[in-house]
Amino acid sequence: MITYGIIGAMPSELAQIAKEFPDALKETSAMYEFHVAEKNGKKIVFVCCGIGKVNSAVCTQVLIDRYNPDFIINTGVAGGMGKEVKVCDIVIASDARHHDLVPRLLENYPPFCSDFKSDEHLVELAKKACGELGYACHTGRIVSGEQFISDSSVKANIIKEFDPLAVDMETSGIAHTAFRNGVAFVSVRCMSDSADDNGEMSFEEFEKIAADKNARVIMKMIG
Ligand code: ADE
Repeated sequence: MITYGIIGAMPSELAQIAKEFPDALKETSAMYEFHVAEKNGKKIVFVCCGIGKVNSAVCTQVLIDRYNPDFIINTGVAGGMGKEVKVCDIVIASDARHHDLVPRLLENYPPFCSDFKSDEHLVELAKKACGELGYACHTGRIVSGEQFISDSSVKANIIKEFDPLAVDMETSGIAHTAFRNGVAFVSVRCMSDSADDNGEMSFEEFEKIAADKNARVIMKMIG
């Protein structure tokens, strides 16, 4: 049976998906609560990983070891970085990078890669889902780091170095772990803010709206 692993960082990012699977079986490992369900002949495992790259990387490894997913989809909210990316737009990751780790340390040492690419089939699936829902979406780089970005000068520095469309705190940890295991991955994020001086206020206002909107994309993707 094809297995989809769906990872969200915060309970709000999985709330709508959890509503679709009220009878999901709950299994706990390494303090992560995995919810196991079925949809149209596919196994769906969804889990809340917590905030930050350590939480997201460890969760991804446990997900892979326990459930051997064919596809991993990361859902949630993010801060918009690209000029054309507006609050409540969707960003589909073409690739993911850590913005707070010098790239050459990953390029010169294991895993000899600092740019973790998404699976093309999953990217196409996400684009199609957004199209069917009539949602504005962009495909490009998502960067992650151990910091909520709400300072325009920090934002400008990250753009200068990595040229991303969105920033969050988990995607690159999931992408890095999926890469090390050879598992197909994509991150789909809805913008709750623009990672600028208004970032925190905007996040508070739009977090739930953006998380729920993104969940609709994910539900369409998994058919
Ligand atoms: N998640 C949502 N908005 C974010 C931001 N501005 N920085 C980091 N993670 C985020």
